[in-house]
Order: sequence, then C-alpha cells, then structure tokens
Amino acid sequence: MTDHSTPAAGGEITYPSYLALDELLALQRPRTKPEHPDELLFIVVHQASELWFKVLLHELEALVTQLQRGDVLASVFALKRINALMSIVTAQLSALDTLPPHRFAEFRGYLGSSSGSQSAQFRALEAASGLREPHFLAALEEHGEPPAVVKEWLGRPTLQQLFDDLLDRHRVTLEAVYQDPAQSPLLMLAESLLEYEQSFALWRYLHVQLVERIIGPLTGGTGGTLGAKYLQRTVSQRFFPKLWEVRARFFGSDSGAPPR
Ligand code: HEM
Repeated sequence: MTDHSTPAAGGEITYPSYLALDELLALQRPRTKPEHPDELLFIVVHQASELWFKVLLHELEALVTQLQRGDVLASVFALKRINALMSIVTAQLSALDTLPPHRFAEFRGYLGSSSGSQSAQFRALEAASGLREPHFLAALEEHGEPPAVVKEWLGRPTLQQLFDDLLDRHRVTLEAVYQDPAQSPLLMLAESLLEYEQSFALWRYLHVQLVERIIGPLTGGTGGTLGAKYLQRTVSQRFFPKLWEVRARFFGSDSGAPPR
C-alpha cells in the first residue's frame, strides 16, 4: 500500500493555503453590472456541482478498479460513497428553486451561449456509468469533437459489463443472484448499482423540474436545444438495463396470481 503519512518538506501549511482559498474564492466572477443579487448563487451552485462531479469521477474510477479486482464488498462500499455524493449534488439544485423566473430573466442574457450541456464532466459521468444510448451519443457530437475525458471513458467497459464479468467469475446468473441467499454480497452490489441509477435519474428529474420552474416547459435552452422537452427524454435513459429487466422475470403470467 502507498504510504501517504510523510508530508514533503515546504512552507507552513495553513487552512487557507492547504485549500487554496485565495484562488478558490476569486473564481466566482458575476458578469452583471451592477451585480445582480442572484448571480453569485447561480455561479456557486454550478461550480460546486462541477467540483462534486470531479469527485464522483474519481470515485467511479475507484469503483471500476474494485470491480475489476473482483472485490464485491469494496465495490459496494465505493457505491455507498458515490450514492452519498449524488444525494449532495442533487440537494444543491433546491437552492436554485428560490430563483423566480423574472429574476433569472434579468441576467440570463449575460450567460451568452453557455449551457449545462457543455459540461464535459457530466458527459464523462454518463460515459463512465455506461450510457451508450443513441440519443446520448448524438448529444456528444453537438459541440464538435467530444472532450478527451469523455472519449477515454467511452473506450472502457461499462459498469454493466464489469458487473457481468464479475457474475461470470462467480459462475452465477443475475437471476440466481436474486434467488440464492448464498449470493447476498452480489445481491447487495446489484442493488447498490440500481440505487446509483435511481439517484442519477433523480438528479435529471429534479433538474428538469427546476428548468420548467424557472424558464417554463417551452423555452429553448441556451445550448440551442428544446430545453425541458429535450431533458425529459433523458430521464428514462438507463445505465443498467439488465438490472431492470431481471425483475420482470419474477412476475411471469401466472406468478403472484391469487389462488383459485
Ligand atoms: C437556473 C437553473 C437552471 C436552468 C434554467 C437550466 C437550464 C438548462 C437547460 C435548458 C438545459 C438543456 C440544454 C440547453 O439547451 O441549454 C440544461 C442542461 C443541463 N444543465 Fe441545467 N439549468 C439550470 C441549473 C443547472 C445546474 C445547477 C446544473 C449543475 C451543474 C446544471 C447542469 C446541466 C447539465 C449537466 C445539462 C445537460 C443535461 C443533459 O444533456 O442531459 N443545470 N440546463
């Protein structure tokens, strides 16, 4: 294991220097003049989300390593953290629920052509999680060549593929994982992956709600899309189709039928 316990020699480390606070706090640059009272919040929620996206990508990397190692419990633990991070990033959206439409309209023009759809880290998260839907791949091309970080994740196996490999190694089917009590660690892993899917869909859903609440269902996005209408289509995209499909197998035409 790498030893991280001995710090390198250097100047005194303090709270502001360790966290690079001077630089960090100089990075919020409202464009309105005089400054609109709501622009700082708007910038910070986006910047903080991007910071959490950065941590999420880092933790997904760790999850991939654990899945490749075949360490089921470490993978479950990695997903516990990932799901906690998703809850944080989703909760932040509610701060912008306090931005009424007329106030956003007062500074939206200052955003130019900037749009969340240009977030390379968000696209990388989708790619890392295993999204390969045509709608997603088409959205990637919209802003020219996809960023390197996205292309890198697209070239790797998806989380679903890594999970399938793990099942092969355990010589067990997904259906058996849900039926055989001896497979409970793999069941926990399957359910944690599903929770991740749900938490991502929840972000998408609450983001569309936020968008509709602020700019309405019909206003086009600054990214030139159909706005909320385009976003609504993304809510049903799935990272782990097999984990959803397997459920139906326990509900065949005669299962669960009341006794005659
Ligand atoms: C005032 C609040 C917000 C409004 C009105 C808004 C509006 C929109 C709209 C209309 C789109 C569709 C693409 C476009 O044409 O621009 C979009 C996409 C997106 N927004 Fe927001 N947004 C808001 C807050 C946020 C926040 C806080 C984040 C956090 C990073 C965010 C991240 C994204 C991302 C990642 C996409 C791309 C989603 C996808 O393609 O599936 N947005 N937003």
